[in-house]
Amino acid sequence: MPEASSQNPLTAGLKEDQFPQPCTLVIFGGGGDLSRRKLLPAVYNQVLDGSLPANFAVLGIALEELDDIAFREFARKGVESFSRQALDEQHWPDFERMLHYQQGSFDDPQTYVRLKQRLEEIEPSFGIPGNRVFYLAIPPALIETCVENLNAAGLVQPVGGNQPFSRIIVEKPIGHDLESARQVNNVLGNNFDESQIYRIDHYLGKETVQNILVMRFANAIFEPLWNSKHIDHVQITVAEEEGVGTRAGYYDHAGALRDMIQNHILQLLTLIAMEPPWAMNADVIRDHRQDVLNCLRKITPDTIDDCVVRAQYGPGFHHGEDVPGYRREDGVAQDSTTETYVALKLFIDNWRWAGVPFYIRTAKRMPKRVSEIAVYFKNIPPILFNADLDHQLEPNVLALSIQPNEGLSLRIATKLPGAKVRIYPVKMDFRYGSTFGGQSPEAYERLMLDVMAGDATLFMRRDAVETSWLFIENILNYWESSSTRWLPEYCAGTWGPLEAERMIENDNRKWRLL
Ligand code: BG6
Repeated sequence: MPEASSQNPLTAGLKEDQFPQPCTLVIFGGGGDLSRRKLLPAVYNQVLDGSLPANFAVLGIALEELDDIAFREFARKGVESFSRQALDEQHWPDFERMLHYQQGSFDDPQTYVRLKQRLEEIEPSFGIPGNRVFYLAIPPALIETCVENLNAAGLVQPVGGNQPFSRIIVEKPIGHDLESARQVNNVLGNNFDESQIYRIDHYLGKETVQNILVMRFANAIFEPLWNSKHIDHVQITVAEEEGVGTRAGYYDHAGALRDMIQNHILQLLTLIAMEPPWAMNADVIRDHRQDVLNCLRKITPDTIDDCVVRAQYGPGFHHGEDVPGYRREDGVAQDSTTETYVALKLFIDNWRWAGVPFYIRTAKRMPKRVSEIAVYFKNIPPILFNADLDHQLEPNVLALSIQPNEGLSLRIATKLPGAKVRIYPVKMDFRYGSTFGGQSPEAYERLMLDVMAGDATLFMRRDAVETSWLFIENILNYWESSSTRWLPEYCAGTWGPLEAERMIENDNRKWRLL
């Protein structure tokens, strides 16, 4: 049989067994917000792009009293408001016939009996061979009951042989701390094989995040420089403009460290810092990412003051309008000490990164939404063009812009035209928008296709979740034991507290202006 790549140039380099397989996507919480805003629009875009197999169906399952028709209407509203591509009226009837709904309570075993019957009705009419992807778009407290009931109802196929597959997608947060994360993982592990479990971290599905590996390992020029000999430090910023919004119920018990660092940002760090993997294989890549987490230097009570800053936003401005401080937001306790800002200085204790600080900051209510990784190279020696110690040249910086202006830029020194030698930093820029046009697929689109193809590369393995918790737990424990009633405050709409400026300035460096 000819290789797939000889038939279609767009499939060059892809293994045939990594194409999405015919299946039913069962969305637990199908009538909820994630389903409406992200999952159903993602499926719609995949169908429009022709990325899904022809034999495919969706079954939403939730408490809401809907039927198939009402669910289709619900999906339509979601697509109209949140889809990357506009709703195509001509195509819609074909899409909506794939959508089904079943009402049920997740802790009622009968729900799962009926689910099985419903799947057995739907599958033959779509030519689906019994493959099922269960997406748990539900509150964490319901994961256990859902997973156990799925298994008890005989909906989890064993792995191997020619059996149809059963795969499960779990949303973050996986636990609230290490112990609860282990509990969730134990429940998952008692009912599914690890190879059937896909713990989603939507940052890993972002186009620009996937490009980190391509940039590092499909180009010859970066790898020789990618180490402590040439890199001075790395800055990772994930800034959000929005405040806590309507999510105080969750966020006030989580905070920025749990919400953003434990998962998204530590995963970004692993991609930037990992050793070159020797195969594009889920376990190889995840082993290499895991090595980075294993080498993170523990933050101890002795080092915490130098390496960690937390703060909370106070009142300020957003787009010229007054906005309340965090403690005045709906649903937030008035004496809340939940952090909405965290800055960290991390070290990765291996040969490649010995002594290179990774400065990380993330917060809500910053002046703008921007996520970026900036790699600062070492400055040139103080000779020749850099001999004047009072006017040092700017170092080279490679900036990977994750969002919203996806791209990559390299700052280099260049000669200003003219008779004198005057040096000026310029940027070599690549932007996805201007180079490739159109909008990149949403993270959820890519990630769901990967699950249907059985590719777990962009998902969190159990060890990654637990090692990340272990790392941040030292900080959480320290915060808890110090039981402060006061946190540094930054005005909403500014770049964070003075304490964070001081943390980096103590090392003679500065946060990047974004
Ligand atoms: C989620 C967090 O995981 O990521 C939110 O729970 C945060 O608090 C969101 O706003 C940020 O995602 P994105 O893709 O908008 O950067």
